[in-house]
Amino acid sequence: MDAKAIASQRQAIIDKYGEWTNHNIRLADGVDTIGDRVVPSGVKLRRFLQLVADLAGTSSFEGLRVLDLACLEGLYGIEMALHGAEVVGIEGREENIEKARFAKDVLNLDKVEFYQDDVRNLSGDKYGEFDLVLCIGIFYHLDAPDLFAFTENMAAVCRRWLLLDTHVGKDAQTQYNYRDRVYWGTRYPEEQTAWSSIGNPESLWLTRPSLYNLLADVGFTSVCECHLPLVPKYEIMRANDEADRSTFVATKGTPVTLKATPLENDRPRDRWLERF
Ligand SMILES: C[S@@+](CC[C@H](N)C(=O)[O-])C[C@H]1O[C@@H](n2cnc3c(N)ncnc32)[C@H](O)[C@@H]1O
Repeated sequence: MDAKAIASQRQAIIDKYGEWTNHNIRLADGVDTIGDRVVPSGVKLRRFLQLVADLAGTSSFEGLRVLDLACLEGLYGIEMALHGAEVVGIEGREENIEKARFAKDVLNLDKVEFYQDDVRNLSGDKYGEFDLVLCIGIFYHLDAPDLFAFTENMAAVCRRWLLLDTHVGKDAQTQYNYRDRVYWGTRYPEEQTAWSSIGNPESLWLTRPSLYNLLADVGFTSVCECHLPLVPKYEIMRANDEADRSTFVATKGTPVTLKATPLENDRPRDRWLERF
């Protein structure tokens, strides 16, 4: 397809499903899904791509199987695929998944599959296992108890890294019990937009301590937070002490056994404490 034909197909998608809302993907010379302007997802993409390249120790993602949860218009998965990864994207809304599929087809990405599904249906039986799970902009849209089962499911399908970009609740306002553990968070109303959650009128933003405890409880062995590359919007939110948002990498490794200080091996693992 030449650029003119691609531009006309892009217009047909817009006529049917509306404009692209956030993911600006180059389809051909002079044809981008959103157009000739910078959108916020670009700066985040730079962060995520650098992070994955640094973790993997290579800028080629050949051999990596990547899951992009709630993938919207497909940008993050498509970028990983352009670097060699095999990608599965899951997205609940038809207008978003059709745009993602269109970009995949135009770019001839035969190692990418996009499925219209609810992320709460994630399972290994359905989608297999992944070296890298991208959970970007969906965690804080879910509510309890789904959020807890969803985190378990992400851990179950994850062989190595979970890249989690999420809001965290500032206050330990509401308590939840799940599998005999206690977690805390702040409740938020879910406005009904093209980006909001499907089916739950409110969502739960876990506090940082509860997020870390939950990730440990479902089997991740370490959690780190990304500060560079910078996402300026997150830093502005932090500076204003607004509800916080950040990017975390949870790794599913093998629990270590200490040799020089073996007494520590028998001590129960510490848990993060809430600030009330
Ligand atoms: C805030 S957007 C984030 C999109 C993308 N990951 C990004 O960061 O640009 C949330 C996305 O999740 C999708 N979504 C919401 N609830 C979902 C659900 N239960 N299952 C699958 N997709 C869902 C929305 O349609 C939307 O595309």
